[in-house]
Order: sequence, then structure tokens, then C-alpha cells
Amino acid sequence: MYPPATFIPSLTNVTIMNVLIIYKSYHRMNTETVAKAMAETMNATLKKVEEVRPEELAGYDLIGIGSGIYVGKYHKDLFRLLEKIPRLEKDVFLFSTAGGPDEKYDRPMKELLIGKGSRIVGEFRCPGAAGLLGFTWSNKGHPDEQDLERARAFAKGLMPV
Ligand SMILES: Cc1cc2nc3c(=O)[nH]c(=O)nc-3n(C[C@H](O)[C@H](O)[C@H](O)COP(=O)(O)O)c2cc1C
Repeated sequence: MYPPATFIPSLTNVTIMNVLIIYKSYHRMNTETVAKAMAETMNATLKKVEEVRPEELAGYDLIGIGSGIYVGKYHKDLFRLLEKIPRLEKDVFLFSTAGGPDEKYDRPMKELLIGKGSRIVGEFRCPGAAGLLGFTWSNKGHPDEQDLERARAFAKGLMPV
């Protein structure tokens, strides 16, 4: 015997948010570590910037853009991708890892997005180890577990309750 139809749970109260996280990370893969923690929390699609076609963004409700900070800003590949999109009237959150995390590093990307009609719904900054030839001269061990917990909490806060 099949259960009566009333046993089927109602789906009307379930909000499904389609989240895409796009990132660039190459120095120590710090930003990738943060991006993965966020994507797991949000059940998001996670893509390296090289894997994204500009048309794809239209299919998502919320878009995360993450980068290491390289000479004062987000990686140029992220700017190149977004410059190909005339309008992006979406909710967007930003995250970055840097030797010395600072709001000023996020600003050029934020301004580009606002100019395209995006609403910036969150910003997350995190210390990221930096160095050369095997030496680490700042933020050794970052992002650490505490940074990742902060990243997960930030991501959770962006999801519908
Ligand atoms: C070429 C280069 C330039 C950097 N410029 C800055 C900078 O301007 N400000 C800063 O705070 N950190 C700077 N850093 C440190 C990186 O932002 C930091 O290591 C970041 O976590 C790297 O991210 P990734 O491992 O995801 O590539 C720089 C690192 C590199 C390799």
C-alpha cells in the first residue's frame, strides 16, 4: 500500500537559492581554501574564473567573487570576466585573502559591480600566508581553522533561514 498523498511533505516553504562562487587563487591557494569552505556551507557551485562563461551568471540568484589580493586588487582575470558582462543586476558577495586584509583592496571590484547594477550583500576578508621560494613572511598558517569557521559563518548568514 502506498501512503496517502497527505504523507508527501509540502515543498512550498522551501527556499532554494542557486549560488555560484567564482574565484582566483594561485599563490598559496589561500582563497581556494576559503572558497571551498563557503561553497560547502552554501551548497554552491564552485568555479575557478577560467571555467566560467559570462552567460552562465544569469542562472544564479547569488554570486560570490573571491580573490587573493595581488598588488592592491583582485586578480585581473576576474575583472576581465566581469567586464564582458554589460549588466549584472544580482546579489553579489565578495571575499578576499591578503597579506594585510583591507577594505581598500576590495573597492575596485566593488565599484565595477555596483556600476553593473549589482547589490553587494556581504564582504569577507581573511589573512592569507604570503612568501617567496618556500619562505613565508606573513600570516603563516592562514587561513587557519578559525578563519574557515568565520568564512562558514559568513556564508551561512547569506543563506535564507
Ligand atoms: C604578486 C603578489 C602581490 C601581492 N600583493 C599584495 C598586496 O598588495 N597587499 C596584500 O595585503 N597582500 C598582497 N599579496 C599577498 C596575497 O594577497 C596573499 O598571499 C593571498 O592570500 C594570496 O592568495 P592565493 O593564495 O589565493 O593566491 C601579494 C601576493 C603576491 C603573490
